[in-house]
Amino acid sequence: MDYLALNKAAWDKRTELHVDSEFYDVASFLTGASSLKPIELKLMGDVKGKKLLHLQCHFGLDSLSWARLGAQVTAVDLSSEAIRQAKELAQKTGLNAEFICDDVYHFGENTQAIHDWVFTSYGALCWLPDINRWAQVVAASLKAGGKLCLAEFHPVHDLISGYGYFHREEADLDEEGTYTENDDGEVSPMLTWGHPVSDVVNALIKAGLHLEQLDEYDYSPYNCFEDLKERKAGEFVYEHEHYPSPLVYSIIASKP
Ligand SMILES: C[S@@+](CC[C@H](N)C(=O)[O-])C[C@H]1O[C@@H](n2cnc3c(N)ncnc32)[C@H](O)[C@@H]1O
Repeated sequence: MDYLALNKAAWDKRTELHVDSEFYDVASFLTGASSLKPIELKLMGDVKGKKLLHLQCHFGLDSLSWARLGAQVTAVDLSSEAIRQAKELAQKTGLNAEFICDDVYHFGENTQAIHDWVFTSYGALCWLPDINRWAQVVAASLKAGGKLCLAEFHPVHDLISGYGYFHREEADLDEEGTYTENDDGEVSPMLTWGHPVSDVVNALIKAGLHLEQLDEYDYSPYNCFEDLKERKAGEFVYEHEHYPSPLVYSIIASKP
């Protein structure tokens, strides 16, 4: 099965719903709000003047939010509809970012080691079959001293939701709608792969990066899973057997 064609079709369709959703709230973004979350804002600090590569940028809200903070942004996504919408948002806001429609691995074949930051977040890694190859793309894109900021959903929550925790070569076939409130119930098949935290960390180490910080969070900044409760503004928690489940982890890794 051609996983790229299948996933691209599904993300093209999802994007059409997402741009109109309350979940992504494009209207607030257009009037100046940032889509970035406190986790990545705290981890990355001041990005003014920094060259930032955003992998799997979806329709560009985060990429353009980094641009609003002064970063020089290049952003990549597989979905041509997402990239089309991102370019339209850039035009509407007058913000500057380069949007490239490409597969992460294919993009990595010609990437340059010029970036201060590689940023990727919330629901990115599960679309990639080979985590080592992803880490190599990250390493090849960073200049010496540059850093990766990954903020990703925690695979323990996948386990609780009925998926495996450990990586298997065989993909999981997802036949679900999307996570925004305007889901139309139409199902697009998608292929995903789980990546335990240790595989992600080891892939980055093997690619030559130094692990600087690894954090786990008992909340998600997005209300995107079933049965989450908002304990305070912007912090959605999931209780498993009366204990909070880890929902997000983040990594800062640097290139020597
Ligand atoms: C859940 S979204 C990323 C979420 C992002 N943090 C957001 O909410 O805007 C996942 C994105 O990965 C992209 N994607 C999936 N497979 C990809 C691949 N092989 N190469 C590049 N992008 C890919 C999809 O098109 C989608 O836009």
